[in-house]
Amino acid sequence: MEGLLVEKHIKYILSAKESKDEFESVVMEHLRLNGAYWGLTTLDILGKINAVDQVEVIPWVLQCQHESGGFSGNIGHDPHILYTLSAIQVLALFDKLDVLDIDKVSNYIAGLQNEDGSFSGDMWGEVDTRFSYVAISSLALLRKLDNIDVEKAVQYILSCKNVDGGFGCTPGAESHAGQIFCCVGALAITGYLHQVDKDLLGWWLCERQVKCGGLNGRPEKLPDVCYSWWVLSSLIMIDRVHWIDKEKLVQFILDCQDRENGGISDRPDDAVDVFHTYFGVAGLSLLEYPGLKAIDPAYALPVDVVNRIIFDK
Ligand code: FPP
Ligand code: ZN
Repeated sequence: MEGLLVEKHIKYILSAKESKDEFESVVMEHLRLNGAYWGLTTLDILGKINAVDQVEVIPWVLQCQHESGGFSGNIGHDPHILYTLSAIQVLALFDKLDVLDIDKVSNYIAGLQNEDGSFSGDMWGEVDTRFSYVAISSLALLRKLDNIDVEKAVQYILSCKNVDGGFGCTPGAESHAGQIFCCVGALAITGYLHQVDKDLLGWWLCERQVKCGGLNGRPEKLPDVCYSWWVLSSLIMIDRVHWIDKEKLVQFILDCQDRENGGISDRPDDAVDVFHTYFGVAGLSLLEYPGLKAIDPAYALPVDVVNRIIFDK
């Protein structure tokens, strides 16, 4: 059995960083800060973040910041809370959060909280539990959670809980593993995990494992490597990860590697991308695959980075 092709994945991420074809393609252009977070976190888990020169990355991250305090996905695009978290995560990876005007960024995020406790993603107002997670994770990393009404934020998230134990993007919306990661992660960070029915949710989550060992995001959907992150991180946060077959999942992720050029795809034999490479490697880290740095299931950052910032360790 062939293991994780570490050197090939490092090469793939580093070449994606340079390549106009993928990382900076027209489709990805506005997502570049997200891409930087996926790529750099992958390199860090693989022990190679030093291959990237932070002197190149940090000025570019700061150029993505707007007068409002929020960040856009690339220079010249509109700011959004999703890219603001990516900017914070990238700076955290380099231990450089101190280049930020922390009050300015945290006021931008706090300004997106609505009367009912929910969060909008930007000034246009779309509401989604993804944005609740992003706000809470960002502010926790900036040590500014007291800038928002945490109690109301939690109540809104709990109002998105369904009878199957899962969570959706708004009240009444169907359970989806991506939203479950967001809601469970936000509840973990704020200390409200006791509000989750762990057995009921654990059952729904472990039902996501299909015959080939991969995980899907909802019933009847195809397995996809990125759900190795959304489902697995949630199962770990609620202490039910032993309810899935870990070995089969490891094998599914390894089967999605491009053995020639590196990178990981959503399913075996599909084209690889940086997003699925990150979630594949991060999933293997959660599964304690040998040789990988441990990743924190709530913050989606390496444990040593989280310890340094959140726990002063
Ligand atoms: C599925 O997306 C995933 C989600 C809905 C969760 C997204 C979470 C965030 C953006 C928060 C930040 C995340 C991290 C890791 C820091 P999809 O569009 O692929 O869903 P589909 O499979 O239904 O198409
Ligand atoms: Zn996917």
